[in-house]
Amino acid sequence: MSTPHIEAEADDFAKVVLMPGDPRRATYIAKNYLEDSRLITDVRNAVGYTGYYQETEISIMPSGMGMPSAAIYITELYRSFEVETIIRIGTAGGFGPELDLRDMVVASGCITNSRMPELLIGKSEYDLTPTPSLLTAAVDLSDETGLVLHSGTIFTSDIFYEPDVGLNARMIRDGVLCVEMETAALYAIAQVEKKQALSLVTISDHLTRGTHLSPEERQSTLDEMISFSLKVASKEAEAIG
Ligand code: HPA
Repeated sequence: MSTPHIEAEADDFAKVVLMPGDPRRATYIAKNYLEDSRLITDVRNAVGYTGYYQETEISIMPSGMGMPSAAIYITELYRSFEVETIIRIGTAGGFGPELDLRDMVVASGCITNSRMPELLIGKSEYDLTPTPSLLTAAVDLSDETGLVLHSGTIFTSDIFYEPDVGLNARMIRDGVLCVEMETAALYAIAQVEKKQALSLVTISDHLTRGTHLSPEERQSTLDEMISFSLKVASKEAEAIG
């Protein structure tokens, strides 16, 4: 049941997939957080794993950077491997004063400068939102664990090296929390394929303060988000059976 970018059997993936951007993070999560994890695909070094988190089967598949890359993996997982739920775990650049480095953000909505959602959904007016039950699960879990979780609209950009010097101020004015490069693709494809999706990011760069996480801080922040997302994922796996 291989696809052009995923060489695996039809039943190799769990129903719930965690999706970091970086393939090395996929390996890190599989090795440090999953039991009995096995490598199920490695086309172009996009390494996918399936294993168990507290007896719940979970898969990890990296998206690569940016919407075109992410969209390929997301579409193939939903269409060809019967994946029901994809939870993105990534990093983002924060805009406003209410955000600090290391804070976690759940994308309750998403705007983008890309035409990809319009082309996929087939109209220029659309809403990009996560699956409501997943959003609720994440917000409830943050209340229980006391972890900082901001819920709000994020910006998915096609551009990392942004030339528009006025962009940050406009985003703050419009209440947009942060920028990353994959969530709009995930939410648009989930909508079209009638599947479940949620996007969680941690603030690795603060764009108006010009501050960045150190490599050590990146790692410990990532660990918090992995633990958090695995709990959301296992709750979701229980819910869909
Ligand atoms: N821009 C876009 N994507 C990002 C950033 C950024 O500043 N930081 C982490 N992901």
